[in-house]
Amino acid sequence: MIPVEQRFERVVQQILEQGRAVIDGLFPDQILSHLLHRLTDLREEEALRPAAIGAAGQAEVHTEIRSDNIRWWSDHPSDPSESAYLAHIDALSTYLNRTCFTGIRSREFMYASYPPGAFYARHVDDFQNKDARKFSVITYLNQHWQPSDGGELVTYGKQGPEIIPPTFGRTVIFPSPDLEHEVRITHRVRLSITGWLR
Ligand code: OGA
Ligand code: MN
Repeated sequence: MIPVEQRFERVVQQILEQGRAVIDGLFPDQILSHLLHRLTDLREEEALRPAAIGAAGQAEVHTEIRSDNIRWWSDHPSDPSESAYLAHIDALSTYLNRTCFTGIRSREFMYASYPPGAFYARHVDDFQNKDARKFSVITYLNQHWQPSDGGELVTYGKQGPEIIPPTFGRTVIFPSPDLEHEVRITHRVRLSITGWLR
């Protein structure tokens, strides 16, 4: 695996040049395998809930817009794989703050599970809160994803639509207010860790 600073620099370069970063292996596979097990357990325990849209306090479930199930993480999780993932996220935030003066001060992460037939219509992530979302971060946990499984992330950047399959170990990062995106209908359970740097 290439050194961590070089991986983080690729994130910065891709965001500057292409408006988003799509990087396989940004975080260690071993951590992601543990997170996949944890999410699988949580799904079996039915610990996920239908995702809502809108700012805190006004959030409502609208399955015609999004139909995934989510579970928020604690800011300081007791699960070792969650805290290991967040340690990498914090290192990335520190790198972004140091090199790009992004002023990231906090983060929020969740598990997301899209059952077959689920999708998320085209949207932007920023809700114009006072603690605005600066970057969206999504890491996919889907082993052996096939083109026929659907569930692609589609981004609508300046260079036109880009179709990104949600394959295991892939992380997508983009400025939350800038990039419209959608999740196409998935034909297989589609699992991810999704979060925001604020
Ligand atoms: C979101 C979102 C994209 C994805 O949760 O806001 O757009 O690929 N997720 O899961
Ligand atoms: Mn989104």
